[in-house]
Amino acid sequence: MPSKSLYIATYGCQMNVYDSGRLGSLMRQKGWAMAESQDQADFIFVNTCSIREKAARRVIGHLKRLRALKLKNPDLLLGVGGCVAEQEGRRLIEEVPWLNLVAGPARLGEIPEIMETLSADMPPVVLAGPSPEAHGRDGGPPLVPMAAAGQVGPSRVPDQKGPAPISSFLTIMSGCDNYCAYCVVPYLRGPEISRPREEILEEARDLVGRGGVELTLLGQNVNSYGRPGHRGGEDFVSLLEEVSRIPGLWRLRFTTSHPKDFPPSLVGLFGKLPNLCEHLHLPLQAGSDRILEAMGRRYSKTRYLELVACLRKSCPGLALSTDIIVGFPGETEEEFLETVAMLETVGFDSIFSFKYSDRPMTKANLLPGKIPEEEKARRLSFLQATQKAITMAKHQSMVGRTLEVLVFGLGRRPGQLSGRARDMSLVNFDGPAWLVGRLAMVDIIEAWPVSLIGRLAGTNGDGP
Ligand code: 5AD
Ligand code: SF4
Repeated sequence: MPSKSLYIATYGCQMNVYDSGRLGSLMRQKGWAMAESQDQADFIFVNTCSIREKAARRVIGHLKRLRALKLKNPDLLLGVGGCVAEQEGRRLIEEVPWLNLVAGPARLGEIPEIMETLSADMPPVVLAGPSPEAHGRDGGPPLVPMAAAGQVGPSRVPDQKGPAPISSFLTIMSGCDNYCAYCVVPYLRGPEISRPREEILEEARDLVGRGGVELTLLGQNVNSYGRPGHRGGEDFVSLLEEVSRIPGLWRLRFTTSHPKDFPPSLVGLFGKLPNLCEHLHLPLQAGSDRILEAMGRRYSKTRYLELVACLRKSCPGLALSTDIIVGFPGETEEEFLETVAMLETVGFDSIFSFKYSDRPMTKANLLPGKIPEEEKARRLSFLQATQKAITMAKHQSMVGRTLEVLVFGLGRRPGQLSGRARDMSLVNFDGPAWLVGRLAMVDIIEAWPVSLIGRLAGTNGDGP
């Protein structure tokens, strides 16, 4: 009998991408195949994001559109995971009655077993709240927290059988204990739990052993990995050092870091570990001390700038990206302009910026002084225009340099390749397809707002 097939659509953060990959591999172990598209699948699983209202609305739209497929194929099974599943639980069934399964992030490990018996004529199954077993039934990580950079849109699950992806995320901890005033993550993803060190190292060695070139250690706040009082783990600095020693691992990154937990020992690894790339995502959120305090971020503008100075001392070429929220309740024009000024002062390479969005359960939800939507939109476009000029100037300063580029795939034009430099710059250049998955040396010849154009100068002789 042909195996049943599964299609996973992933919204939101890198952690959701990781969770979807993990669900895909657990389901494959149970004999499921991955479908090429939604209309070929027997089971569609939508992994959702709830960090901002807009993101949550988009996934509800997707689920509503799936009704047409369900009408065509009454045996089709539909499941929802991620933060919307956790937040809405059974209410989701009321809003989208054709759902068969709702499973919060901590319950992903239970899905393969449930899918062995679930059929379309059965009542829907709802799994929310913490997992009955701390580390999931598969013995894998507790599945898993919210993210850094605001990536959106459904994406397909990478196939984890056979060769490893060129670049992989590896979850080292889940949850968050920080309770920033605007953020729903701690309520939906639960408290911080560190994965056992040996389990992480084993997964890292496996990925590199199967040809993976780049690893990004992932967690809501990776710096607090193994913090005393945590379940599991040891300290982050020694974990990073040990992962970096895996032979054949050419590139190592980690995300996300909270600026309040950045010890000098971690700063000192930049510029010291040869495969630790010269890029750091360090969410600032706001540039005014009063707003930072109201957000509960527990660092000041001065402390953030001191940290940046230390990082650049340790690693002069370090590229920095950040997250910014505009229009937090009560944010004045002056306070907003302090955030804008920080973009110039730090000289970020790129930013992910968002309009403040009210989220259920959060402290900021109850704050007075909500900023009107049009004003938030104005602030956001001003902020983004400011950053566009900063990024462009950075890109222009790179023309004439030679960068090591990890080639991720083919570019948009025939004959073109696309990849990322160690500092995360996106580089497009003409070259042969066999370079995909390898390190190329590329002379930068042209600067664009979001990418660089290069000319192939050679391969990295030592590299993959
Ligand atoms: N409104 C707007 N942006 C938010 N983020 C988190 N919560 C909210 C919210 N309620 C942003 C933060 C965080 C990123 C992942 O999403 O900048 O770092
Ligand atoms: Fe949310 Fe703050 Fe935790 Fe990041 S550190 S997930 S912004 S509560």
